[in-house]
Amino acid sequence: MRLDKYISNATDLSRTDVKKLIKSGLVSIDDELATSGSQKVTDEQDIAIEGSTIQLMATRYFMMNKPAGVVSATKDHTNPTALDLIYEHRNDQLQIAGRLDIDTTGLLLITDDGQWNHIVTSPRTDCKKVYLVELENPVGKDYQRKLETGIALEGEKRRCLPASMEVIDDHHIRLCISEGKYHQVKRMMTSLGNHVVSLHRLQIGGIELDPNLEPGDYRPLTEEEIASIQ
Ligand code: URA
Repeated sequence: MRLDKYISNATDLSRTDVKKLIKSGLVSIDDELATSGSQKVTDEQDIAIEGSTIQLMATRYFMMNKPAGVVSATKDHTNPTALDLIYEHRNDQLQIAGRLDIDTTGLLLITDDGQWNHIVTSPRTDCKKVYLVELENPVGKDYQRKLETGIALEGEKRRCLPASMEVIDDHHIRLCISEGKYHQVKRMMTSLGNHVVSLHRLQIGGIELDPNLEPGDYRPLTEEEIASIQ
């Protein structure tokens, strides 16, 4: 990573401030004076400002119980975002791993680990997402078979990957999918001739929504939860 990026990631300093520090001879790499912000550095090197070593923050992982009315984006001009509800140092570096619609509630994963995020969201990794779906019309007898075959969504060339469901009652199912296409669950239910009244995400891979989290609350993931995404 570039030296100026490394320092501004590890501190609250802007790249311009970092450049000034380097120019003033206050930054060292393994005890040698740094000469330019573009110098490449690694985590193994000792980067110091005025003799004090700085360290990149460890990667962070959180789960949130997303309330309705909050968008799963990092910035939005009209509505509050999930990141507005996260009170952490440098929360501008956090990303949402698998978005939810504004009216969908439940499990939202938030991290600054891009690779981990990719494993959660890529359809190739078969990371299952489980939703509680409330339907306008009664559950059809043919739903299970159609979901297993792969639903054809309007405007998509390829069918959805096979999905499974468990009937809770006439109007509620627990649906398990392994992709995250735009409005996927709502479009799948439309394709089955039904309509989603409410949608709540319960689980992603081995991570279940913590029942102790009130809507809008979040907590760090445990080591086991982080490692369960592979
Ligand atoms: N599918 C949807 O239609 N909406 C969501 O928020 C998540 C999955």
